Amino acid sequence: MCFAWTVLVVVFLLPGAYSLSRDEFPSHFVFGASTSAYQVEGAANEDGRKPSIWDTFSHAGNANMYKGDGDVACDGYHKYKEDVQLMANMGLDAYRFSLSWSRLIPDGKGPVNPKGLQYYNNLINELISHGIQPHVTLHHWDLPQTLEDEYEGWISKKIVYDFTAYADVCFREFGDRVKYWTTVNEVNIFAMFGYGVGLGPPQRCSPFSVANCSRGNSSTEPYLAAHHMLLAHASATRLYNKKYKGVQHGFIGLNVLTISFVPLANTSGDIIATQRAHDFWNGWVLNPLTFGDYPDIMKRNVGSRLPSFTKKESNMIRNSFDFLGINFYNTFSVNSYPESLNTEAIDFMPDFAAQITMLPENDTSIDLVLDSLKNDYGNVPIYIHENGHKTPHNSSLNDFSRIKYLQKYIGAIAKSIRSGSNIKGYFVWSFMDVFEILTGYEVSLGLYYTDLKDPDLKRHPKLSAKWYSSFLKNKPTEPKVIMEIEGDTSLL
Ligand SMILES: *[C@@H]1O[C@H](CO)[C@@H](O)[C@H](O)[C@H]1NC(C)=O
Ligand SMILES: *[C@@H]1O[C@H](CO)[C@@H](O)[C@H](O)[C@H]1NC(C)=O
Ligand SMILES: *[C@@H]1O[C@H](CO)[C@@H](O)[C@H](O)[C@H]1NC(C)=O
Ligand SMILES: *[C@@H]1O[C@H](CO)[C@@H](O)[C@H](O)[C@H]1NC(C)=O
Ligand SMILES: *[C@@H]1O[C@H](CO)[C@@H](O)[C@H](O)[C@H]1NC(C)=O
Repeated sequence: MCFAWTVLVVVFLLPGAYSLSRDEFPSHFVFGASTSAYQVEGAANEDGRKPSIWDTFSHAGNANMYKGDGDVACDGYHKYKEDVQLMANMGLDAYRFSLSWSRLIPDGKGPVNPKGLQYYNNLINELISHGIQPHVTLHHWDLPQTLEDEYEGWISKKIVYDFTAYADVCFREFGDRVKYWTTVNEVNIFAMFGYGVGLGPPQRCSPFSVANCSRGNSSTEPYLAAHHMLLAHASATRLYNKKYKGVQHGFIGLNVLTISFVPLANTSGDIIATQRAHDFWNGWVLNPLTFGDYPDIMKRNVGSRLPSFTKKESNMIRNSFDFLGINFYNTFSVNSYPESLNTEAIDFMPDFAAQITMLPENDTSIDLVLDSLKNDYGNVPIYIHENGHKTPHNSSLNDFSRIKYLQKYIGAIAKSIRSGSNIKGYFVWSFMDVFEILTGYEVSLGLYYTDLKDPDLKRHPKLSAKWYSSFLKNKPTEPKVIMEIEGDTSLL
C-alpha cells in the first residue's frame, strides 16, 4: 500500500515524463527488433552453407579490432523456435532478420541448397504462426565468398546480375509470406568500411588506409561498390515489381545508415561543411533513390572516381522503392577542412573536406535526419530498421541506460510523426546480444543477454526487454524502473 502510494506520488510529481504510450502511434505502426544472419545464426559450416566475406574477415582477425567470429554466434540456426517464442512473449509485431545468401545459394549463383531453403521456410513459418511479420533483408555485409573470389564481388558490375537472380529465388520461395523486403543493408557504411577504411568485410583498402588490406583502392572502390549496390537494388526491385508484386502485394526498400551532422562552430564554413557531410554520407544513397543522381557536391569533389548513371539507369533507380530503411545511431559535429582535398591519400573522408567528431548519444538529434527526409526527400515512407544502445556485454541485466535510451528515441519518433514525418515502423537493434560488426562479442545492444559461457547459449531478458514488452502491450512500466530512471540524471 505504502509502496503504491510512493509510485503514485512519483507519477503525479512528474507529469508527462512517463506518458509515452503506444497509443501515440498510428494503429498500423509496426514495432519490432532486428538481427542479421551472420550475427545470430551460427551453424556456419553446417548443412551446405559456404563462407561469406564476413566469415573470411572474422577468421582473418576482424582487422585486429576484436576477437571472435560467427561460427556459432547465438546458434539461432538451431534455436529459432525458442527465439520466436521469446519474440511472441515480448509482443513484437515484427522481426527484422537477413538471409545468408551463401546458406541459400552456397556459391552465390547456381543451385539452391535445400537445407538452407528449409531453414528459412521454418523460420518464416514459425514467425507467421506466432503472428509476427517477417521483414527480410537480402544482404547484410555477407556476400558469398565465391563471388568475391571470382570477380571481386561488389566491385564488378557482374554482381548486379547475380544479386537479381538471388533475389528472384527469395521472392519466389518466400514472397507468399514475406511482405517486407530490404535489398541491401547500410549501403553507405558497408561501402566505406569494407572498401574505404578496410575495417569491415571484404577488408579492401589502399596501403595508406586504416587497416592492413591485401588488396583494394580506397580512392575508387567505395564509390564503385555503392554504385553497384544501387544498381543491384534497382534491378531486384524492377524484377519484384514486374513479376511478383501483383500477386504477392509486398513492399521493397533499401537501407541506409543515416547520420545527423551539426556544425562544430557557428561559422559559414562549418555550416556549409555540415551540408557537405550530409550530402556525402546520407545523400550518396538518398539522392540517387529520390532524384536519380548523386549530389552535385559529390560529383564535383570526387570527379571521375565517382561512377555515373546512364539515363536509363538513373530512371531505373529513381523512386525504385516503396520505403526507405534507415538505421540511426550517431551524431557528428563537422568542421570544414578544405585542405584535405589536396592530400594524395584521397578517399571518402578527405573527399568531403571536413573533419567529423562523434557526439554523445542525443535523442533529439534523430530529428535532423527525419526532418531532412520529410523536407528534402519527399517524405517517403520510412522504417527505422535499427536504433539501439551499447553496453559492455557482461554488464548488468538491469540495463536502465538502455531503457532510458529507447524511451527517449521512441518519444522523439512519436513527436516526429505528430509533426508530419512518414514513419511506419521502428525496430530495436538488437533482439539479443549478437556478434557485432565493430565490437564482436565485447559490446552489445541486445534486449536479451546471450550467455556466451553457457554451452546452451541461454538467453536472459534484460530489464529493457521487460520494459519494451510493457510498452508494446500498453502495460504500466515497473515502478522500480520508473524510480531508477528518474533518480539517475546521468543517464543519457
Ligand atoms: C586507385 O585508383 C586511382 C584511379 O584509378 C589511381 O590513380 C590510383 O593509383 C589507385 N591507387 C592505388 C593504391 O592502387
Ligand atoms: C598492420 O600490419 C603491421 C605490420 O604487420 C602491424 O605493425 C600493424 O599493427 C597492423 N595494423 C593494423 C591496424 O592491423
Ligand atoms: C550564428 O551566427 C549568426 C550570424 O552571425 C547569428 O545571427 C546567430 O544568432 C548565431 N547562432 C547561434 C546559435 O549562435
Ligand atoms: C542535442 O542535439 C541538439 C540538436 O541536434 C542540440 O541542440 C542539443 O544541444 C543537443 N543536446 C545535447 C545534450 O548535446
Ligand atoms: C566482463 O568482461 C570483461 C572484459 O571481457 C572482464 O574483464 C570482466 O571480468 C567480465 N566481468 C564479468 C562479471 O564476467
